[in-house]
Amino acid sequence: MTARSATPARIAVLVSGSGSNLQALLDRIAHEPGFGGEVVVVGADRDDALGLTRAREAGIPTVVQRLRDHPDREAWEQALRHDVAEQRPDVVVLAGFMKILSATFLDGWPGRVINTHPSLLPAFRGAHAVREALEHGVKLTGSTVHLVDELVDHGPIIAQRAVEVRPDDDEERLHERIKTVEHDLFPTCVGLLCRGQLRVDGRTVTVLPAPEPSAAPPLTDQE
Ligand code: GAR
Repeated sequence: MTARSATPARIAVLVSGSGSNLQALLDRIAHEPGFGGEVVVVGADRDDALGLTRAREAGIPTVVQRLRDHPDREAWEQALRHDVAEQRPDVVVLAGFMKILSATFLDGWPGRVINTHPSLLPAFRGAHAVREALEHGVKLTGSTVHLVDELVDHGPIIAQRAVEVRPDDDEERLHERIKTVEHDLFPTCVGLLCRGQLRVDGRTVTVLPAPEPSAAPPLTDQE
């Protein structure tokens, strides 16, 4: 995990779509002194991801690697890892990144890749979690934030929050309510990772107390 230090952790964010979770993270960082992290690069697997526009508007460097521009997934993951690593991130945040990453990418940041998923895992893994929850007729679904391992939507769970399914829900309406929850839960969990407040024992994640504020005296303007 990221060391507890006064230096903010460097965060890379990967997106594929609208990037509302990226925006929620940027807003949280802007409004929470002591968040403990800063976004240093946003990457995408498609050049039309709205998340890239959000990043550029925030003055954050962006990188794009499209799978179809590479001979195979291995080459694509290597290229993505290379581009992301150039900005020396401490943690990697998957914020609606809709491609599966293997060890080729994940080995760059062991235990330091975090994902948000729109269901109560382990139910409804994969790319259509909201649709499948509706089709299954569940009355309760929600948001899960977890550390990423090599299996899809599988790594140790950091936090979950439930969202009720309403009789008149369609996929879009339900997903919007889940996103409202994600926009709070996901930045909170990214902050915990950045501040080194997560201890992982097998599948169990424990949230550690917040680090003590620095004992260093405040700077004065006389020196
Ligand atoms: C989010 O709901 C996220 O949980 C989901 O994609 C959405 C992205 O929204 N991710 C997955 O389904 C990954 N399996 P956003 O682009 O507006 O942040």
